[in-house]
Amino acid sequence: MVTTLLYHLTGGTTDHKLIVEAAQLIRKGKLVAFPTETVYGLGADALNSDAVAKIFRAKGRPADNPLIVHIANQSQLTTLVSKVPAVAFRLMDLFWPGPLTLIFKKSACVPSLVTASLNTVAVRMPHHPVALALIRDAKTPIAAPSANLSGRPSPTSADHVKEDLFGKIDLILDGGETSIGVESTVLDITKKTPVLLRPGGVTTEDLESVIGPIRVHRSIHGHSSSGSVPSPGMKYTHYAPHAKVILVEGSASAVSQRILHLLCQYSEHSVAVLTTHSSTYPTKNLFSLGVTASDHARLLFKTLRQCDRKNIELILLEGVDDKGLGLAFMNRVRRAASEIIHA
Ligand code: TXA
Ligand code: MG
Repeated sequence: MVTTLLYHLTGGTTDHKLIVEAAQLIRKGKLVAFPTETVYGLGADALNSDAVAKIFRAKGRPADNPLIVHIANQSQLTTLVSKVPAVAFRLMDLFWPGPLTLIFKKSACVPSLVTASLNTVAVRMPHHPVALALIRDAKTPIAAPSANLSGRPSPTSADHVKEDLFGKIDLILDGGETSIGVESTVLDITKKTPVLLRPGGVTTEDLESVIGPIRVHRSIHGHSSSGSVPSPGMKYTHYAPHAKVILVEGSASAVSQRILHLLCQYSEHSVAVLTTHSSTYPTKNLFSLGVTASDHARLLFKTLRQCDRKNIELILLEGVDDKGLGLAFMNRVRRAASEIIHA
């Protein structure tokens, strides 16, 4: 059991002192959870294999699932990658700092543990003052997966990190709730036509408006069990709350009718409905995921965890269109769902 420190950041002048302490822990090979604009990350010195090994142990993460390396300025990229393709400069200029992870050919400096022995490395520059200050003060790139136990919904608050990792990591920096709520977009730019491996905070439409057509891996629209896997992490069950999740897709009225029917069918169970259409249902466990796709993304993981705290056995969830941030949202809910109904 590790003693986990918890530092609350207030946006005031004492924050910097706490972040400097956190950076010293990173330099000593310790694990620090920190906020980003997407979800909380569990950070370690990316160039220290022993420290990176601790991330895998704390999360219970399979060793064949590589990590994202976080940087605070473009000069840190040069040590990590062997080649920066022209397309990367346009993407970095427009979307960094921000929720876009780019896959590059790796340099020899990156430990094979970070990349799960692949010859590529995932890099991103987060758009969050705490994350950027931590990386700058640590004076090293920080490898960080989402700060949840492997398979659980990603953490959008320090409380979620505490729930999963208290007693397993050295420090949690509490910077409040994250603003985007789903993880970064992952784009492989080592291929001639860039390939979207994970939809996230930067939309496909945003990317295509800058670099032209990209290839969207077909498994992104599918269920977690659907065949081929674009990115090592995509083959694992993800985002799963303890409850069984049934996703209902289709027109708003057909979805409502089907959910009403399911509520009757499962009336003996503890059931929650997560609505994306501001629908009303005869249940005491009705959770609104807001009205826009960015609301849905921001509220999804938090609401799945709320359902767990209420010991919900079954979650019925209204699907949305795969447009804009809706694609990232639907990708996560399809992978959390044990059943998808087309109403
Ligand atoms: O928003 C985010 O990306 C958050 C915050 C903390 O930055 N991080 C995050 O990390 O979501 P993680 O480890 O939960 O997800 C990383 C994803 C996994 O699906 C992994 O397989 C993929 O990125 N990945 C990492 N390196 C890769 C590589 N070299 N090639 C292909 N996919 C890679
Ligand atoms: Mg994750």
